[in-house]
Amino acid sequence: MTPLPNSRINRRDVLKSGAIAGGTLIAGCFDTTTNDDASPDEREFPEPQYGDPDREYHLRATESEVMVATDDPYNGWTYNGEYPGPEIRAVEGERVRVTVENDLPEETTIHWHGMVLDGDNAMDGVPGVTQAAIEPGEEFVYEFDAEPAGTHWYHSHVGLQLDRELLGPLIIEERDPHIEYDTDETLILDEYLPTEPRVDTSSGNGGGMGGMGGMGGGGFPDAPPAEGTLINGRLPEEPATIDVEEGDQIRLRLINAAAAATYEIGIDDHELTVTHTDGPAVEPVPVDTLEIGPGERYDVVVEARSPGTWPIRIWPVDESTSAGRALLDYDQSDGDGTEGTIGSRQLQLSDLNAIDSLDAYSGEPDRTIDLTLSGGMMGGDGDEWTIDGQAYPDTDPISIKEDEHVRFRMVNRSPVRHPMHLHGHHFAVGNALKDTVIVPGHMGEITIDFVAENPGAWFFHCHHLYHMETGMAREVPYEQ
Ligand code: C2O
Ligand code: CU
Repeated sequence: MTPLPNSRINRRDVLKSGAIAGGTLIAGCFDTTTNDDASPDEREFPEPQYGDPDREYHLRATESEVMVATDDPYNGWTYNGEYPGPEIRAVEGERVRVTVENDLPEETTIHWHGMVLDGDNAMDGVPGVTQAAIEPGEEFVYEFDAEPAGTHWYHSHVGLQLDRELLGPLIIEERDPHIEYDTDETLILDEYLPTEPRVDTSSGNGGGMGGMGGMGGGGFPDAPPAEGTLINGRLPEEPATIDVEEGDQIRLRLINAAAAATYEIGIDDHELTVTHTDGPAVEPVPVDTLEIGPGERYDVVVEARSPGTWPIRIWPVDESTSAGRALLDYDQSDGDGTEGTIGSRQLQLSDLNAIDSLDAYSGEPDRTIDLTLSGGMMGGDGDEWTIDGQAYPDTDPISIKEDEHVRFRMVNRSPVRHPMHLHGHHFAVGNALKDTVIVPGHMGEITIDFVAENPGAWFFHCHHLYHMETGMAREVPYEQ
């Protein structure tokens, strides 16, 4: 059949939908701007299963004003008019129902980032893969088991909607935490992008695509330049404040909800004890700073032993824009900012040791899949990001079988980081259990192992939204 150079339509689906009449394709039928399946009605989606929920929430996706500093509103898209979106909180093992109403001018879905959705592939929120997107004026009822415990989040999985602020925290409390703490606070890190998100193909912004090192240069798709860094939806001039009492152990739940930026975080004169990553618990490890990529989460415990009002600093590691700031404000302090220092111990992946057993991931895998992450010059159009030279949705699926131990070996042949995320599973990487992991640039290599114990069609992609949108994604279906 004729190749479709500029179309985002998947070959297999064209065949399945019978959209080809006499070998000709009627081009106008296809949406070329989103990753939606061309003909969602033709594809069979998993059947949603409903039970008896313990908690119910209602989210209305709507156009609304976003206020990140006084007198500086802009038009974004939010859930229930709030940015970040309302917190969804449940206890491990509970059943959660969320009714999502689409009051946007476009179709939408929600993905529950961090939930494994055991047996609930239909609730995963990937348009064209696990459901037909929710049309304007319609609603969809999501329901899932709150598993695993930890710091998670939810966001739109359609196009660039995440970068219009359609996101919020999803906190699943452990029944039996391995650490002690007095208070629990969530910090959501994000770019300040008051304009409509668009793929930027002019070279040289944020991602640092300047030198492709022999692969040719130029405009690889990237995010538009951010205008600042937000913590809990606030610019540094009017920071979010965390009130603490001397002696408290404060659990900070860090969520990087940015579309593109990897951040480093540190708190002046305070140590961060890392206790969880992407939900699962790790043996506590004290550091001064850590890096967090788009989609990743870390929980840290901070001991309040140094009265004052201290900056919590978040800076983009590529220094593409200014840093974000929140405040750690002690009870007795006068509220004036104090400046201190941040030490140099930075968290490394090798510092993380999961509390849960990794036995299931040891030994030789049943299936090993090598995946090369790269930009378009490796074989595409130059305006794509690819996995093994293919840009989604014009891709072959990565098929696996139930009960296999699967290994993905990723090599990054580009100069920028790719935070890779697998839906429906947590994977072992080093001695940690995660669902999103940064594959460093310049031939960085990361190997993940997981057990195929959750049949369905799952998405695997870069969580840099603009890399995903321009191709860095695959479907991972279970073979029947
Ligand atoms: Cu947080 Cu497929 O996404
Ligand atoms: Cu990427």
